[in-house]
Amino acid sequence: MANLGSSRDGFTSKFGVIAAAAGSAIGLGNIWRFPYVLGNSGGGAFLLMYLFFIIAFGVPVMTSELLIGRKAQKNVFGAFKSLAPNRPWYLVGTMGVLAAFLILSFYSVVAGWTLEYVYLAITGSLSGTPDDINNIFDAFMGDNFWPYFWTIIFLFLSALIVLGGVKNGIEKYTKILMPLLFVLIIVLDIKALTLPGAGKGVDFLFNPDFTKINGGVILAAMGQAFFSLSIGMGVIATYGSYIPKSQDLGKTAVSVSLTDTLIAILAGIAIFPAVFAFGMEPDQGTGLVFKVLPNIFNQMTGGIVFSIMFFVLLTIAALTSSISLLEVIVAYLSEEFAIKRSHAIWATTLVVSFLAVLCVYSTKVFDNFDFFSSSVLLPLGGVLIVLFVGYVLKRSDVRAELEAHGKPVFWFNIFYFIVRYIAPIAILFVFLHGIGIV
Ligand code: PHE
Repeated sequence: MANLGSSRDGFTSKFGVIAAAAGSAIGLGNIWRFPYVLGNSGGGAFLLMYLFFIIAFGVPVMTSELLIGRKAQKNVFGAFKSLAPNRPWYLVGTMGVLAAFLILSFYSVVAGWTLEYVYLAITGSLSGTPDDINNIFDAFMGDNFWPYFWTIIFLFLSALIVLGGVKNGIEKYTKILMPLLFVLIIVLDIKALTLPGAGKGVDFLFNPDFTKINGGVILAAMGQAFFSLSIGMGVIATYGSYIPKSQDLGKTAVSVSLTDTLIAILAGIAIFPAVFAFGMEPDQGTGLVFKVLPNIFNQMTGGIVFSIMFFVLLTIAALTSSISLLEVIVAYLSEEFAIKRSHAIWATTLVVSFLAVLCVYSTKVFDNFDFFSSSVLLPLGGVLIVLFVGYVLKRSDVRAELEAHGKPVFWFNIFYFIVRYIAPIAILFVFLHGIGIV
């Protein structure tokens, strides 16, 4: 996969590309970001909106992205350039690069926390009362060295993977390790659901309280849907260019979205029952998962082993996402400016390290990067992507690409209607309403 930009033989099987797309989608977004944003946004009502956005916009935008990439057989910039020559559509790719810089910066910080928790789990330090666990996180956040250290280590690891051209490696890892992560989360779910007082958490998650909804919450739910699916910035288009014509793109979009959403919900089922069982508050912000999960492990026989496995797998899930972000930037630099890939990788890592250090230093910078990328750049990218499919490409070409696997797709008219009318207007509306303009 690391050679996505420069060679077209990156994957050995069609499952490999889908695993890579799922690997990009599944990450800290599901396990860290989803629970914390939901906890801050009042619970069940947020979940409903999130599910709505995944189905109404997520799947159509992902299908559109896959089809743009596969039709052009190029990375996202090349794709827009060759499908709409001499027109500025490639700016969607440029926006995607900007988003990749911002996301990678705060993402590495949280991945750095995960690495610290691998270390703490191995040394058996994640023990004690829920208060102790709280203090461990707060003390770590206040430290002047380790949060910076782990962030840089994570970025360095991502750079090494992209540099190494691990094509088949990634495939192998995602195929074995992601199902393992899935099983571990189910184990956590069972444990969390059987804690005394867990019912309140189930209620919080599944019993919507619509008084909690406002423009900001709706925008946050849409941003979370885009962020979690890795859509709106070109990652998925680039993967789409590697999908063989024999593959049904609509099905691919649905299966990646389903898997991603399932993991997010399962993470929620592990977190919220535990939040209430341990007498904690759901709106703790970014530290939520790190303050809650160790308490569950502490209640389990063999909890240390489980916690080590969990944080290691979470790090790997974060890596399969961060490399997709890094790849977008590197493909852009190396192909648009003819910079050597290795130079592009190290230059990008250097710049992102600097931005990431800013995110560690200031939660304001962290929050602004997060908001601006997820709730502004990705949705706007999504609007442009569906407009491109709905108005720039020919209807017959769109249909031909979606039916290239040899079977008519019964949902074509609905899809086409959504990308032309519903999605662009609705996404823009949610965006403008969320920032208080309409
Ligand atoms: N979807 C990834 C996650 O949930 C994050 C990501 C966003 C990756 C955008 C690539 C592009 O962790």
